[in-house]
Parts: sequence; C-alpha cells; structure tokens
Amino acid sequence: MAGERIQVPRGTFDLLPDDLAQREQVEQAARRVLEPAGYRRLETPTFEATELFARGVGASTDIVQKEMYTFDDGGGRSVTLRPEGTAPVCRAYLEHGMHRLAQPVKVWYLGRFYRHEAPQAGRYREFWQVGAEAVGSADPAVDAELIVLLADLLEELQVRDVVLSLSSLGSPDARSVYRERLAAHLRANEGRLSGEVRERIDLNPLRAFDSDHPGTQEVMRDAPMLLDGLDDADAEHFARVRGLLDDAGVAYRVDPTLVRGLDYYARTVFEFSSGALGAQSGVGGGGRYDGLVEQLGGDPTPGCGWAAGVERMLLAAGGRPVPALPIDLFVAYAKEDMRPEAFRLAAQARRSGLSAQLELAGRSLKGQLKQAGRLHARWAAILGDEGASLRDMESGDQRVMAPGDVVAAVQRGERL
Ligand code: HAM
Repeated sequence: MAGERIQVPRGTFDLLPDDLAQREQVEQAARRVLEPAGYRRLETPTFEATELFARGVGASTDIVQKEMYTFDDGGGRSVTLRPEGTAPVCRAYLEHGMHRLAQPVKVWYLGRFYRHEAPQAGRYREFWQVGAEAVGSADPAVDAELIVLLADLLEELQVRDVVLSLSSLGSPDARSVYRERLAAHLRANEGRLSGEVRERIDLNPLRAFDSDHPGTQEVMRDAPMLLDGLDDADAEHFARVRGLLDDAGVAYRVDPTLVRGLDYYARTVFEFSSGALGAQSGVGGGGRYDGLVEQLGGDPTPGCGWAAGVERMLLAAGGRPVPALPIDLFVAYAKEDMRPEAFRLAAQARRSGLSAQLELAGRSLKGQLKQAGRLHARWAAILGDEGASLRDMESGDQRVMAPGDVVAAVQRGERL
C-alpha cells in the first residue's frame, strides 16, 4: 500500500534550480560588494556548543529562551543549530588566534540558520543569512563602513523601499543603569502592561519597546530613552558614525526605540527594513558588540557587523526572473540507431568545454528541435545517414559535415 506523502518540515523549503540560480546572484553580489572592502569569506559549522549562544546571544533573549534547536549530540554534550552567526565568528576568531592578525579582521559568511519561530511570510525555521563582521577595531568608521556596505548590497539586489533605522545603546555600564531606570518606569505603570512584558520587567525590560500591546505602547511613549542618557564617549562615537553616513549620502532615521533581539550589542545598532515586506519587514541589521569576545573568554576586543536575511531580500526585490542559461549544442538524431553516435558526440563536446545536451526523452525529430529551442541551444546537430547536419538555431541555416567536425565548427562559432 502506498504510504502517505511526506512533506518538507514546517518552516523549511526546498530550493529548486531556479531558486538556486537566483541565490547565486545574491552570493555574487555579496562577493562583489564585500571583497573589495577587504572582507574575506569564513564559514563556521551549522551547530555549536549550546553554551556559545547562551553566553553570547544572552540567556534572557527570545532566541535563547524559546527558539533554539538544541539536542544532545549522543555523547552527553548539548549542541544547538546556530540561530545566528556573530557568536560563532567570535568563537572562531578566538580559536584561531586571529587577534594576532592585522586588525580589524574582516569576514563575511552566507549560510543556513535555525530558529524555532512560528512560520509566516518572511519568517522560517531554516533560513539563510549573509553576514559581515569586523572584529578588532572600535573606530566609528568601521560601523559606518559596514552600514554603507549593507546599503550597497541591498541596492545591488534591487531591494525596494528600504529604510535605515539607527540608534546607540551606549556602553554596557550605561545600559545597565538605564535598564534599572526603565524597569522602575515599567513597575510604576505595571497595571497597564501586557502580561508578557510584566513578567519580563527584570529579565529584559528593553523588549517592552517591541510590544504591540496598546497599553504597553502608551506606557513606552513616556519611558526614559537610552539615547538621551549616553555618556560623552558613547555620544561622540554615535555622532561620528552619523557624520560619516551623512558624508556618504546614506539616509537614515534615528530611532531611539530600536532594540535588537540579541544581548551582545553596545553602542551602534541599526536595521534596514523594507516597505515591500509585510509584518516581518527587517531585511538586515546589526551593530557593535564590543563585549562579546570577552564574554566568550577572550581579551576585551571590539567588534561590529550585520546580517541580512536572504529570503527577505529576495522577497523585497520582487523576484527578478532568472535568465535561462543558454547551451552551446543540442545533439538530436533522425533515427534510433544513431543514438550511440549522438551519445559520443555530446560527451566529446562537453570534454571540449562546450555545454551540450543529448536528446533523452525519445522525441520525434520535430520534437527534438523544439526541445533544442526551449533550451536556448545556439546550435543543434542532427545525426542522420548522411552525417551530421549542424543547424544554426538563430538563422535556421544548416550545413552537413562529418560528426567528428561538429565540435570544431561550434567552437569556431561562425555563421553557417
Ligand atoms: P538578526 O536581526 O536576528 O541579527 O537577523 C538578521 C536578519 O536575518 C534579519 O534582519 C532577517 O532578515 C533575517 N532573519 C532572522 N530571523 C529570520 C527567520 N526566522 N526567517 C527568515 N529570516 C530571518 C543577527 O542574526 C545578528 N547576528 C546580526 C549581526 C551580525 N549583528 C552583528 N553582527
């Protein structure tokens, strides 16, 4: 008895050849934008010790509290499918002694990430990110350069309707003082908050800015703002990032309520969103994480970076059609007993560096030529009793030659 059909797991998707052709364009665009600025590709494993994310991303974040795919590796060690790439890059930086290299160390990555979230348009359980990280410099020009590079990538991919939001979270010390002030404000207005926000007043009061609960939003309207209480060094850093973005002609909106869902940020945070997307409008974001390397056991080391969601960028770019890759030669045959000769010719053409396909579906000669057209073949060789007829698929002209001469004729590429 036939079994029930098995489907792709919820929140995941197959990548069909057309999808991959589109994603190759994303990869090429990332390389084109990032490598001239000195970013080199680095890839980390898809799973890591759970502790890396618990410590790096932060125990109180949604990601660590409820979105990680965590399992025992069979040997009693807890591992987690990576929900993000910054903590792994910092782990690799430490593990390979990259502090000994010229700083900052600039890397980029492109791969799959995993979060156990409720799937919806633009939100998946397995998704792809392209990211860039610069570890080892506290210069505000690093922040600005990274933001400009992400803006360039989004433009290169024709992501529509992009808005950049920018803020500063200050130093961790200033932030913990601020957290206390904010928590006090929330406690004073506890009755008007959503249950979820109320429960998290001590754990993570900043998340209250993200709430869509009307009462909470009202309370947040007169909440103290971190941006208003930056110390001099942090305010200076933020002013310099803004100045460099102004010089570069990158438009942004200062948004004091911008809180990103990861604990490692300090100073600059930013997010690009697209009006072409629905509720999940964030296409890419990041910021500075000056305490993270130390948190992971290294010396104090500044860092900054971003990651952008590949699916969201493609959605917001409106899915440009992927041009079909033309092939050089389609090998057809007029009679069944020519098949071995056709097989040999197609193989010889490929060995000579041509893209060549053979008729494989038993079509009539007419059907074969139609198929050659569908494949956008530049030439078709039709094997028959009198030899090979080489047809120029653009002009329709045809010339008879020995099958052994076909490859050279296609390589010469002259019109028939
Ligand atoms: P993030 O904002 O959590 O930051 O994720 C970056 C981007 O990944 C988002 O803007 C979104 O486009 C995409 N993304 C996140 N979750 C999903 C999902 N469930 N489905 C589809 N796309 C998603 C980070 O991950 C930080 N590591 C960025 C960073 C790098 N900060 C400093 N360096």
